[in-house]
Amino acid sequence: MHQGRESFGGRFAVIMTLAGSAIGLGNLWRFPYLVGEYGGAAFIIVYILMSFLISLPMFMAESVIGRRSRQNAIGAVRSLAPDSGWAFLGYLSVITPMIIVSYYSVVGGWSLNFLLKSFAFEFNKIGPEESLGLFGSFISKPWAPIICLAAFLGLSCTVVALGVKKGIEGFSKVSLPLLFVLVVIIAIYACSMPGAKGGVDFLIKPDFSKLTGRGIASALGQSFYSLSLGMGIVITYSSYVSKKENLAVSSLGTAISDLLFACLAGFAIMPAVFAAGIEPNSGPGLIFQSLPYTFSKMGVGAPWASASAAIFFFMTVLVAAMTSAISLVEVGVAYLVEEKGLRRGTASLCVFGGAFTLGVFASLSTGPIQDLKIFGKPFFDFLDLFCSNFLLLLGGMLAVLFVGWKMKKEDVFDEFTNGGTKAFNRKIFPLVYGVIKYVAPLALAIIFFTNFLGE
Ligand code: PHE
Repeated sequence: MHQGRESFGGRFAVIMTLAGSAIGLGNLWRFPYLVGEYGGAAFIIVYILMSFLISLPMFMAESVIGRRSRQNAIGAVRSLAPDSGWAFLGYLSVITPMIIVSYYSVVGGWSLNFLLKSFAFEFNKIGPEESLGLFGSFISKPWAPIICLAAFLGLSCTVVALGVKKGIEGFSKVSLPLLFVLVVIIAIYACSMPGAKGGVDFLIKPDFSKLTGRGIASALGQSFYSLSLGMGIVITYSSYVSKKENLAVSSLGTAISDLLFACLAGFAIMPAVFAAGIEPNSGPGLIFQSLPYTFSKMGVGAPWASASAAIFFFMTVLVAAMTSAISLVEVGVAYLVEEKGLRRGTASLCVFGGAFTLGVFASLSTGPIQDLKIFGKPFFDFLDLFCSNFLLLLGGMLAVLFVGWKMKKEDVFDEFTNGGTKAFNRKIFPLVYGVIKYVAPLALAIIFFTNFLGE
């Protein structure tokens, strides 16, 4: 183990940091849309089942790898399976987040810019129709998005450079509760807007006829992505969890926070979109086009209310994206510090340099170089599709196969139950282990083929 390695302060800190990674853009721009698309409450029920029965055991599997070894993702796999081909899992777990952080930070930069626009009352100054075009004109500029990318990534790397305890834990302990407060305020406000009922119905009216096979696969895929699985994050963060902590409890706490936030985000976003009388969509369009339109419409009669709603909302997007970006950066920094002997500050700077360089191309590909296609897609879309539909699933698959088939069952049991001392964990172990060994690999194969066929 690395000398003088830091650990998280306690259960609250562990859950806040892990939830910080889990709660991100996926909760804000994808979950609410999927809920509406696939039958409201019917989808939520399936999502809960998938999260707790399949994704949560996968989360526990990655936690076991991390805490057993107490090392960065590459060192973790190497120490548990020395001199074997499994080293590939370690490398993949570091490379994937390094690619993701590059384009995820581009979106982080957009949210920073939209927060600044909100402070400048910009959505009120222009009419609702122009607000729809605001996003397109911003991302097609060459410089502004790159400057925002640099600011967002720079801030995230600075938090990581400050250290595991002082930086990451300190930031998460403040920002996660803040996120919940913000999203609750926005949800109350959004649900009280005239015309909000359509949005509430969209989210909760159960319609089992809309719950198709694709809907079920989407629930599984979304819960996998939302818990930040398959990208070395849970391995790395869990390596800072103390040996006394109960892994079942910290995993459950993270999954519950993530689910709660996703549902609250739905009630913060969809009623507002319906109140403005527009069709809901998912992805960047929901956050950067539909909502600004809502804010502009609102601003006609109530400029202050509209600007405050916009500020609260983009603050939520920014902080949620930043805690996720921090977890991605930490995977690379932990590797550089422990395997390459770099100081934390230098390691953070290296990650910044690499991610920024790739991010510049991702950023330019939404505007100036959008005609430069890779496999028929702009670079940004290509990176996202390649990571989400392929690298993440491969990483997740290898991680569960590693715990289920490579590690000794006694070791997994020992780590999961803290040497057999936790009665509840002993009781659920056979179920968790069975899911890790058989069900999870199958589930991941299903997500993979559904994505593949969907493209
Ligand atoms: N769980 C994140 C989300 O819902 C996914 C993610 C985590 C993406 C970390 C990137 C970085 O948005």
